[in-house]
Amino acid sequence: MSIIDLAGIYTAYEGGEKAVIRNLSLRVDRGEYVVIGGPNSAGKTTLLESINGLVKITHGRATVCGLNVSRVSDEVRRRVGYVIQNFYFDPFTPFTVEQVVMMGRFGRLGLMNRPAREDYDAAQRAITQVGIEDLAHKTIGTLSGGQQQKAMIAHNIAKEPEVMMLDEPFSNLDFHAREYLQGVFKEMARKGVPILMVAHAFDGLPDIPIRLVVMNQGRISCDRNCRAEEVEDIIRKECVVPGKCLRRS
Ligand SMILES: Nc1ncnc2c1ncn2[C@@H]1O[C@H](COP(=O)(O)OP(=O)(O)OP(=O)(O)O)[C@@H](O)[C@H]1O
Ligand SMILES: [Mg+2]
Repeated sequence: MSIIDLAGIYTAYEGGEKAVIRNLSLRVDRGEYVVIGGPNSAGKTTLLESINGLVKITHGRATVCGLNVSRVSDEVRRRVGYVIQNFYFDPFTPFTVEQVVMMGRFGRLGLMNRPAREDYDAAQRAITQVGIEDLAHKTIGTLSGGQQQKAMIAHNIAKEPEVMMLDEPFSNLDFHAREYLQGVFKEMARKGVPILMVAHAFDGLPDIPIRLVVMNQGRISCDRNCRAEEVEDIIRKECVVPGKCLRRS
């Protein structure tokens, strides 16, 4: 069974008249490195939020980690990492980076349980992996946009998710950080965790087979495997004539 299995789904926002995602099917298996591209408002963020049950699926069937997303979206969100597209921490947010990363463990812990040694270890490992040891004791709201982004990536790594979704995770990161973190996600994929990454810029993609999904107007217009250096060119062509590129069988 695929870790993500969407079959003919339609999703609409609360109060939205029209479905944003229309008749979309997608299966993602262990270890796949999926790059999701396409123009603004194509439905990329909505696709990620359909997978973890943040927007309502009005028709079709969606299972993630074998769970029905419409029925148990809380449980799905506990298992799926999600680095959101735009976030902003108020300068007075009273949490340190270490605490924010530790919150990544709360889904596993439940609210009533105190963190155990393994939770502290997982948080510490995530901080080290992302390379933000020097920020651990700073309050999150006082950091730069890129530093906050790294903290949110560490939060999601500490979660030890079964699926990792990232929505333009590198928009504020310098090229060194991009390349370094792509290596971290490549390693997660190697261990079997599928990566779904929405992006508009493709420098520093890892040198592994990429599955490229291009969205146009709420649909997948292209779904194929390619090399990292081909990604941008394929998306450009797809934006001119959607459906021109190959679809996976
Ligand atoms: N909260 C919302 N309520 C109603 N409509 C929304 C909401 N969020 C997004 N939409 C609509 O859904 C459509 C798809 O938006 P989405 O954010 O998924 O696009 P995107 O592909 O992620 O674009 P971008 O590249 O700009 O991030 C757009 O037409 C947008 O107006
Ligand atoms: Mg988006």
